[in-house]
Amino acid sequence: MTASQPPEHRPGSEPGRHNLDPHLDRYAARTAGMTASEIRALFAVASRPEVVSLAGGMPNLAALPLDSLSTQMAELISEDGLVALQYGSAHGVPALREQICEIMAMEGISAHPDDVVVTVGSQMGLDMVTRLFCDPGDVVIAEGPSYVGALGSFAAYQAKVVHVAMDDNGLIPQALREALAHAEKQGRRVKFLYTIPNFHNPAGVTLAVERRAEIVEICAQHGVLVVEDNPYGLLAFDGQTYPALRSLDPDNVVYLGSFSKTFASGLRVGWVLAPHAVREKLVLAAESATLCPPTLNQLVVSRYLETHDWKGQIKTFRENYRERRDAMLSALEQHLPEGSSWTHPDGGFYVWVTVPEGVDTKAMLPRAVTARVAYASGTGFYADGFGSRQMRLSYCYPTPERIREGVRRLAGVLESEMELMRTFGSVQTRTVSGPQFPGPDTA
Ligand SMILES: Cc1ncc(COP(=O)(O)O)c(C=O)c1O
Repeated sequence: MTASQPPEHRPGSEPGRHNLDPHLDRYAARTAGMTASEIRALFAVASRPEVVSLAGGMPNLAALPLDSLSTQMAELISEDGLVALQYGSAHGVPALREQICEIMAMEGISAHPDDVVVTVGSQMGLDMVTRLFCDPGDVVIAEGPSYVGALGSFAAYQAKVVHVAMDDNGLIPQALREALAHAEKQGRRVKFLYTIPNFHNPAGVTLAVERRAEIVEICAQHGVLVVEDNPYGLLAFDGQTYPALRSLDPDNVVYLGSFSKTFASGLRVGWVLAPHAVREKLVLAAESATLCPPTLNQLVVSRYLETHDWKGQIKTFRENYRERRDAMLSALEQHLPEGSSWTHPDGGFYVWVTVPEGVDTKAMLPRAVTARVAYASGTGFYADGFGSRQMRLSYCYPTPERIREGVRRLAGVLESEMELMRTFGSVQTRTVSGPQFPGPDTA
């Protein structure tokens, strides 16, 4: 891309917007993939109290022990403030890295604290891993659908995403084999498989245990790294944990973890566990991005793990989310029109819904918001424009009553959409869009 191209073809340009941005000629070519979520504009409306938002992925923090946390933070500053408020190392606080290893052991991972790099949320881990491995045009294989924030990072580094299908048991090994063979036949370099094995965002499904070794083996055979993103792994409704892919092949799996869903998303503390050889480059990448992750926040997490019953707290989160999941599934059963289907998550935050044929969830969204319910339309979770018949519904944040009311409203909108289709033929405006960056409410 060069500055001599017409404005509408320059990076970062959007049709009809090229007169608005005086910096358009200056952007780097890689900004071309950075497009704001089209639903972000709706969030101002969707966050009004009268709208039931089933769109966001915000954890429900109401159950946190705020009083004891605030006492603890005050103590931290008075006792250790000169360390807590100072720069630290890009690698992360050593005591926290040790505690992280204990947490990962719950999923069968045996790791050395030196191989853990603390990040500003696992989103930063995703960004760094993509930065380390992807040149423009390299292929990243990801489940279809996939996490919108990951698609945003891949687009920012101009990687090409190839989606691989899932079923109720997660990523389909044979589909992965075929995607790899196809890419190889085309002479394309596949850099890694990006996968969310547990309580997938947005699909809500979990990778079957018997598929895990097979997937790791396929990637090793093809010389492709695995990037395992696991923020929801400890949120199984029955308390079960699954063997991490990382535990099956430590030399070929980069593991991303986070305290966002099991403690507090606003602290922005996550981590990367990398194969030893990759760790040094990760630390350098982290240093150039942020110098170091926030020392105060790392110490808050570390003290919390040391002094609170954090496993009991996760159990409380799980119970809250299970109650909400149950409310959503029974409301979907009760209200959604024939021709709809949805996944049945055993943990995590999300249900992935397929609506009756002919309905376009992206086109329908403004009408849903007018009817005071919001969801995340499926197209944002694909890099290639698929997903117009799907939507992600989150049950993590609203109360069970609000969830039931939201689903009832959604069903009403679907019924009117279908009524219009019966009367006038299709109302869908087929939408093909690239990856969208998440708003703070859509992660
Ligand atoms: C699959 C997945 N990966 C990564 C993230 C980012 O999490 P963090 O808050 O740790 O940056 C999210 C957040 O929703 C997520 O769902």
